[in-house]
Amino acid sequence: MSTQAGRTQVGIIGAGPAGLLLGQLLHRMGIESVILEQRSAEYVLGRIRAGVLEQGSVHLMEQAGCADRLHREGLIHDGTLLSIGGENHRIDFRRRTGKTVTIYGQTELTRDLMDARAACGARTVYEAEDVQPVDFNGDHPRLLYRKGGVQHELRCDFIAGCDGYHGISRTSVPQAAIQLFERVYPFGWLGVLVDRPPVSEELIYTHHERGFALCSMRSHSRSRYYVQCRLDDRVEDWSDDRFYDELRRRLPRETAEALQTGPSIEKSIAPLRSFVAEPLRFGRLFLAGDAAHIVPPTGAKGLNLAASDVFYLAEALRDYYQEKSKAGIDGYSARALRRVWKAERFSWWMTATLHIFPESAGFDRRIQRAELDYLAQSDAAQTALAENYVGLPF
Ligand code: APR
Ligand code: PHB
Repeated sequence: MSTQAGRTQVGIIGAGPAGLLLGQLLHRMGIESVILEQRSAEYVLGRIRAGVLEQGSVHLMEQAGCADRLHREGLIHDGTLLSIGGENHRIDFRRRTGKTVTIYGQTELTRDLMDARAACGARTVYEAEDVQPVDFNGDHPRLLYRKGGVQHELRCDFIAGCDGYHGISRTSVPQAAIQLFERVYPFGWLGVLVDRPPVSEELIYTHHERGFALCSMRSHSRSRYYVQCRLDDRVEDWSDDRFYDELRRRLPRETAEALQTGPSIEKSIAPLRSFVAEPLRFGRLFLAGDAAHIVPPTGAKGLNLAASDVFYLAEALRDYYQEKSKAGIDGYSARALRRVWKAERFSWWMTATLHIFPESAGFDRRIQRAELDYLAQSDAAQTALAENYVGLPF
């Protein structure tokens, strides 16, 4: 089988938010990239994902020239609610940090980035099969892949592994060269998407003896609800009615009474995990986004960490091409990991504080209750939560 050769400056694996945002930031810096994505664009857009954007991520979408629809349709939230012991406590982000968050579905963000990439004529190969990053420990890395039965070789200066947790990039690194850190939680999140107005203007993070619950939204007419469930629970065991009954039982009475229910348009169970790979650079291969780290969704950090990774990587590559400086690419891993671990800590803390751990009893439960009590009453604790939730500086 003959091999078709191609060339670019940065070969990007994965057309999720990390790969697409990196592609747009590089394009605005005059740096060429080609994205290789194993799935079709429709498939990528079909994934149901969260949608809470830190102000820093919104600025990056502006820098990428892709923020018009986000500004038109995104919902700006000045705060969030914590429901503890049947009472709602409001955390005022704007008063405590001067910052806000924006509710805008990851699917919409991904669509905007795809449209911008197509509009600027940058290349994306969808349904690229068997993508293989090779020779990245030398000065001439290549990406091998098959498309339509033809073998291809893309020569590039650098490879950005933005191919998610199950991607090929991280697994292409020799085991001895990488350290993996992981915490798997003994519960999952059962999520429902429904075309009904949200029960609350702002998100409600709920701690309840029966387990965690979250009330979120995608718009003023589409809501997203989650309840903590057992890892061995099956979606088919949860009718919509059972779901809404359980959700109501975990919410304060007046919130439960205000809940508008309807047929779920999506229902799924997601496991919770904290995961970090170190380092994030292997010669001329860089890892970014879910390929490098996973956070439990309790802190709404997944998408925002992917954004800060590609911000650091784009800056490093700009310095390499425009300033002929290697300082950025040499410092990328440490710089990105510093912010990653802080977001991992916040997401672990939100998860540990707001969920019920099946095995925890006695002393641990008392400590958790004291943590919640302190959070409900302490100005400093609420400001710390707000500071982390709106996003720590880049
Ligand atoms: N070859 C080519 N593409 C691949 C391969 C491969 N071997 N493996 C995976 N991909 C593609 C996937 O199909 C997917 O479209 O890489 C993309 C990775 O996208 P995401 O999983 O969305 O990861 P990322 O872009 O880092 O975005 C992180 O996604 O899961 C959420 O909470 C997470 O919000 C965070 C965001
Ligand atoms: C969501 O809207 O899906 C969502 C919001 C906040 C989270 C997690 C998920 O922390």
